[in-house]
Amino acid sequence: MEKIKILFVCLGNICRSPLAHEVFQDMVNKNGVTDKFEIESGGTEDYHVGDLPDPRMMNEARKHGIEMTHRGRTLSDDDFEYFDMILPMDLSNMAYLQNRSMPEYKDKIKLFRTFDPETLDEMAEVPDPYYGGSEGFTNVYEMVERTCETLLEYLL
Ligand code: 4NP
Repeated sequence: MEKIKILFVCLGNICRSPLAHEVFQDMVNKNGVTDKFEIESGGTEDYHVGDLPDPRMMNEARKHGIEMTHRGRTLSDDDFEYFDMILPMDLSNMAYLQNRSMPEYKDKIKLFRTFDPETLDEMAEVPDPYYGGSEGFTNVYEMVERTCETLLEYLL
């Protein structure tokens, strides 16, 4: 069976996209459909390549039973061909992907929160929590969890 390959994207790949990656992987595992998916995340910048996620994001995930282990990676040109869905967290990440993608892969790029059941705004973003307080990380967690639930329902 051909796997559905999903790539979550943010700027640094240490807060939002690794959270979406690991939350979605956890949901997939709990639903018994691990074999159906290949899940990855990446950053548009290379500042944190090889790093564990931001400790503030790891703490928030841990409160919900998720121990994050992803190591920061950046994007390769092959990612655009390889993955079936490429899901940026904000409009800046989306613009970067649209610019870098070959024309035939642009349809794979969809703003992550278009799957958020709590907004009809097609431009809704997951805000960058990096320079803010802990409430920003809680907010990111809640958005990511409900959006991943809807994404999984859509794909099953
Ligand atoms: P992320 O957050 O894109 O959600 O991983 C950030 C991580 C690092 C930086 C900015 C945002 N940074 O400037 O280093």
